[in-house]
Amino acid sequence: MYHDPSHTCIAAVGSFVPSRVVTNDELAAIVDTSDQWIVSHTGIRERRWADEETTFDLAYKATVDLLGRYQTTIDAIVCATATADYPGFPSTASLLSEKLGVTGAAVDVSAGCTGFIYALEIGRGMIATGTARTVLIVGSERLSSVLDMRDRSTCVLFGDGAAAVVLTASDQPLWLGTYIRSEASGSKSLTIDPVTKILTMEGRAVYTFAVRAIAETIDALLEEHKLGIDDIDWIVPHQANQRIIASCAKRYGIDESKFFLNIDRYANTSAASIPLALAEMEQSALLTSGQRVILVGFGAGLTYGGVLLLWK
Ligand code: UT7
Repeated sequence: MYHDPSHTCIAAVGSFVPSRVVTNDELAAIVDTSDQWIVSHTGIRERRWADEETTFDLAYKATVDLLGRYQTTIDAIVCATATADYPGFPSTASLLSEKLGVTGAAVDVSAGCTGFIYALEIGRGMIATGTARTVLIVGSERLSSVLDMRDRSTCVLFGDGAAAVVLTASDQPLWLGTYIRSEASGSKSLTIDPVTKILTMEGRAVYTFAVRAIAETIDALLEEHKLGIDDIDWIVPHQANQRIIASCAKRYGIDESKFFLNIDRYANTSAASIPLALAEMEQSALLTSGQRVILVGFGAGLTYGGVLLLWK
């Protein structure tokens, strides 16, 4: 049965991060860097790195956290990840469906740090077409597995973690808009090398792209609804670099305090970063019913995009 796609909402959020905290000073003992450089260039103070947990374990624990807060059946699973435990298959979503006994669709999405935004739109499509009534959307990453600990320009930037949301149909039109794009260039600017299995990044090029991608996404979402930036309560960006957010805010005249940031404690967790931020905001009671929230992602592909929604 067809369902109005605007009548979709994020009904609940859960998260999980590994217990091991890795500080900048610990990294400075391994590679030629310093707490001062990392904080001043990125805003990162520490990150979590998994010891035992796989990407599936992180995803499952985030889902258990969510289900402890919000009891629901799950019809389908979409998992955004760049660091699935198995290359190709089985997907992380399939591992989750087996563990949870979910018999609907199960699929992983590969869109780098924009993966969670893409996954939301796929889940919303399932609800709109009647394929599913409740969709578990997970972002889960074990990026510590793909870092070259000799490369200071990347190894200090990334962390591990997972977070999950449940999408359901809503009575009210809470989903105001989605904007998803790819740059059609820069596909090799951010890679996990197929031979070495190590993450590579052209940091400066991605930085410039990111500032523009965030602004374009916010503009497009506001324009569609004839809204101004003052009508928005929160912008929840992919947490790649605090300076990217500061540059974007300054260049486009956006009050920086509208952006929620937790990069200082988790670093860049790629597809997990936006839901991890949402989980923290929800648990800190920063999100209240009726607030207008923009989620915005950007990353490998190069891909970017966002959603504008009313918090349920
Ligand atoms: O999540 C997906 C999207 N990813 C992003 O959006 C990341 C975008 N890029 C960035 O956030 C930034 O470009 C970085 C954080 C990666 C790098 O910061 P930067 O200010 O652009 O530094 P840079 O690459 O221009 O390098 C400046 C200097 C270089 O030294 P020289 O050549 O000037 O002597 C680097 O070798 O900083 C050096 N450097 C470091 N020094 C100490 C690079 N990494 C480090 C480090 N510690 N960890």
